[in-house]
Amino acid sequence: MVEQFFGIPNIDFYLVISILMFFVIIEIIGGYWNRSERTFSDWIQEFGGYLVLGTLIKPAIVMTVLLVGNALTSFETAPLSGNSIWLNLLLYLLLDDLLQYWYHRSAHEYEFLWKLHRPHHQAEEMGFFVSYRNAFLYYIIMPNIWWVGFITFMGGAKAVALGLVLKQLIIVSSHSTLSYDKILYKYSFLRPVAFIWERIFITPAFHHAHHGKTKRDGISDPNGNFGNMFSLWDQIFGTATFTRKFPEAYGLENDPKEHWSASYLYPILASDNPESEISRGYKKTDTTTMEPTTVELVKGEKYLWCQCGMSKNQPFCDSAHHGTKHKPLLFEAKRTGKVRLCNCKLTQKGPFCDDSHLA
Ligand code: FES
Repeated sequence: MVEQFFGIPNIDFYLVISILMFFVIIEIIGGYWNRSERTFSDWIQEFGGYLVLGTLIKPAIVMTVLLVGNALTSFETAPLSGNSIWLNLLLYLLLDDLLQYWYHRSAHEYEFLWKLHRPHHQAEEMGFFVSYRNAFLYYIIMPNIWWVGFITFMGGAKAVALGLVLKQLIIVSSHSTLSYDKILYKYSFLRPVAFIWERIFITPAFHHAHHGKTKRDGISDPNGNFGNMFSLWDQIFGTATFTRKFPEAYGLENDPKEHWSASYLYPILASDNPESEISRGYKKTDTTTMEPTTVELVKGEKYLWCQCGMSKNQPFCDSAHHGTKHKPLLFEAKRTGKVRLCNCKLTQKGPFCDDSHLA
């Protein structure tokens, strides 16, 4: 934002950079970067993605909105310029976060958007740079960035500048390995604070659960916790899973690990691995059958039963449901022994076969 704020030119820019530097230093001091097994491809996607987003995509979108707005309208005073900064801040943040909730959720429920967002979930380690790991097109069509341009054009630039700093604090910390919230869970006298805080803001535990590899760990929920800054929307729309633990493993199951160029530049480039979701002509197929599968379960073990009907590992989930509105069903085996699990997905007693396939 080229805007004076509290008399200091571009203070929002310096604050955002300071926040990032703070997390860089903390993650380095904490030894996280030494222990990191990030590959070159991971760094390119995360650090490179951050640079392109901050220096090209965001400025280009905001400039486009300002130019188009100026060409189409001719008001003397921008409509929001007479409001208090706090009112504009509330307007900016709440609408921004609502847009982001639905965009992010759609990116998990619609195939094309999922392919753009998928690199974000291929990260097998958390860290603040993971925040910026998406295909470039994901950012170009991201409604929030256009919203930043729009509200700036309407006279809310100061609120946007302040809002961006606050958003960065929450978003970057929720991806970081710093996990400041652990201290709130550790001491019983701080737990009420944790309860209130996590019902307002996205905490590291809440967001790490979204990045967890599998729901079988009893912590992760890759098909929930979509919020960006506030947990409010997940609570309202029924996708919140509060946890105070952190997943053991992050990333995607069955990740074919495409070259970074295919992940970042999809759909301009595509993977040459035919098993990859982002290869040309890749199609998920219906793998349901009109027969149940008899499987041996172990008492106390957790299993994910496929409900989308596209897993190649029926009757269990293999993550093929990403990019659809389906979710697997988590269940725990009550006894050791053989059971018939439904494969037609018509059962009313999932995951068990109730002979619906005969009808
Ligand atoms: S593959 Fe996960 S629900 Fe079908």
